[in-house]
Amino acid sequence: MTKSHDVSVQDFNDEDSNVSSNPTFESVLNARLSRRNILRGSIGSMATAVLGTSVLSACGGGNDEPAPGPVPQFTPIEKLSFAAVAKSLEDKVTVPVGYTASVIYALGDPLRAATADYKNDGTDADFENRAGDHHDGMEWFGLGADGKASLTSVDRGLLAMNHEATTDEKLSSFFLHADGGKSTLPRPAAEVDKEVNIHGISVVEVKKAADGKWSYTKDSAFNFRLTPWSDVELSGPLRGHALAKTKYSPTAVKTRGTINNCGTGKSPWGSFLTGEENWVGYFARGAADDAARGDKSVVALKRYSSVQGGASRHGWETAGTEDKYQRFNNSKTGASADGSDDYRNELNTFGYIVEIDAYDKTKAAKKRSALGRFAHESAVFGKAEAGKPLAVYMGDDSRGEYIYKFVSEAVWDAADASPASRIAAGDKYLDKGKLYVAKFNADGKGQWIELAMSNTAIAAYAAYKFADQADICVNTRLAADAVGATKMDRPEWCSVNPKNGEVYYALTNNSARRVDATGSQVTVDSANPRAYSDVHKAKSSPQLGNSHGHILRLKEDAAGAAATGFSWDVYLFGAEADASTSNINLSNLTGDQDFSSPDGLAFSPSTGICWIQTDDGAYTDVTNCMMLAGLPGAVGDGAKKTLSYTKADGSKLDVDTYVGKAPAADTLKRFLVGSIACEITGLAETPDGKALFVNIQHPGETTAMANIANPSKYTSQWPSNAGYGAGKRPRSATIVITKNDGGRIGS
Ligand code: FEO
Ligand code: CA
Ligand code: CA
Repeated sequence: MTKSHDVSVQDFNDEDSNVSSNPTFESVLNARLSRRNILRGSIGSMATAVLGTSVLSACGGGNDEPAPGPVPQFTPIEKLSFAAVAKSLEDKVTVPVGYTASVIYALGDPLRAATADYKNDGTDADFENRAGDHHDGMEWFGLGADGKASLTSVDRGLLAMNHEATTDEKLSSFFLHADGGKSTLPRPAAEVDKEVNIHGISVVEVKKAADGKWSYTKDSAFNFRLTPWSDVELSGPLRGHALAKTKYSPTAVKTRGTINNCGTGKSPWGSFLTGEENWVGYFARGAADDAARGDKSVVALKRYSSVQGGASRHGWETAGTEDKYQRFNNSKTGASADGSDDYRNELNTFGYIVEIDAYDKTKAAKKRSALGRFAHESAVFGKAEAGKPLAVYMGDDSRGEYIYKFVSEAVWDAADASPASRIAAGDKYLDKGKLYVAKFNADGKGQWIELAMSNTAIAAYAAYKFADQADICVNTRLAADAVGATKMDRPEWCSVNPKNGEVYYALTNNSARRVDATGSQVTVDSANPRAYSDVHKAKSSPQLGNSHGHILRLKEDAAGAAATGFSWDVYLFGAEADASTSNINLSNLTGDQDFSSPDGLAFSPSTGICWIQTDDGAYTDVTNCMMLAGLPGAVGDGAKKTLSYTKADGSKLDVDTYVGKAPAADTLKRFLVGSIACEITGLAETPDGKALFVNIQHPGETTAMANIANPSKYTSQWPSNAGYGAGKRPRSATIVITKNDGGRIGS
């Protein structure tokens, strides 16, 4: 997430729309108290490797030949031998002694020969042919020397990545404009055209030269951008449905673009998956739109934080009368009964996992509506086993939102690891299946509850009358409310441990978690057991809630992907090392291990390292955001711990939680600290585990727009101060990390 510069306006990255009366296990706990009286690293690609199939086929242009050479093996690292990186507030990226981090691809870098080098002074244009902003989730797609897809290539590949958002203040993405841009409405079309185009995704070729140095290939024919104005098809239950009819697509088969893409995923058939996260904020609705609609869509819009009369993040809808701007106005303005003459239904076409063929820019991207609609983060496959359905794990990143799983109707056919068409394989596995939401119990167990009309809690839900499965897929949060899912501390990325198939979720933080919850706050429960006070030197008052977050993991019952029950514990509780080990630093983190607000989370398919990346606002008085390497054990390797709270009325509240085994000095270490005001995100790796690609997002985002003409007042000048590119304006960028002795990262 990024900051909101102006506290008087909504923070479009930090929404809080779950006002459902779900008990968050308060009732579970109360029941228990009265009785006493009181679980991407793209496992998809990993699975392909394990299966030893003929691997991914080519297909830079539809070629089906299997890639030559051996399939890379999973060779787990047993201990971390590098020296931990110290916490730091310096404006640079620090990696361990013996490692090198190099910038290779930053905001504005040209993606074709005809596009000029980035001047980085606010005069650049042509952003649909440049790297976007706020590099986020990222996946590796190998390319052989023959220019075809390869599972084994370690020196040439494609990076497919998200460009989540942009550094902004009062509407304007100010680093993109020479004078900082116009921060009042209406917004100029010339500024809006830049701002829209720096969103979406990019695919860029990277390669390693004979001297071992990595760079991106400016004129590669593989390079492409998909922006919020690109055509994207609707797929699954939503396709052709009344809920998706718009002026742009009266037959409800397509929409334009993808936006605010955060986490990613890679399918077992080799496609790129990207999650649409805080998309709502880019759209506006008129002040009287609720009454104009007068139907159940108002309930749905509110549940997704679309408020009538609310300002949009950038005011793009005010840039002109052209349809490409007007689509950002989601008011009911037309006379039609079905919305085919306006954009009242436009929001129903955002909030999905989008599937893209990174190797082939001519293939239409598809929004996979069967996987539900929410503030998506990563989409990570469980182990692909022949003859069994595939599970896709997902989270909804807003305070008090839920954890989900999709289980395919089709069973896995290993031949699909080298499909004739990746998008057609996606049609097979991702358009039909069951969508589940997680409920975590106080006994360390949990249930996956199916979101379907056959569930009477959904069919009879009083707050919203569901019409059909498409309605559930579009209004997933409401369906999850109806079945009493567990409100979590903002589920960010998830990943699957290649060692044992357990599923890890980063729960980044939750400022609304309380012992005595009122209003939209949520009460502590077993899976989200901490509420405490955290001091930040730059803030006038302590921050309440769960400021540091935790990493939860779950183990499916015997049925595996299709299981409807699981057991869980907490791998790590984020904390400052000097915090109390009785109620905050429950994982006994040392100064070499302490962190706050885990966000990116990805297991290496090569080394098995669990990479943990932070997007933090609670420990930034002490250190910039960071990345840690972990070698976790398994669910149940720790112990039950009871946290005892005293409520305001003097009564006691005991919460049982399950704390994973405390990490040893060589099983959890800080590996990287980023530049000032950045978050660390995105992780991709060559199959030999020797090159690690990481994104440094929004360095210098705390810069005030008023200082645009004064580089000495930018809070960060990275990466220009690392010798990369022109100008002083900070830029989001991809770095590559290698070990100086040529070894595997982390070994
Ligand atoms: Fe884009 Fe939830 O982080
Ligand atoms: Ca994130
Ligand atoms: Ca703090």
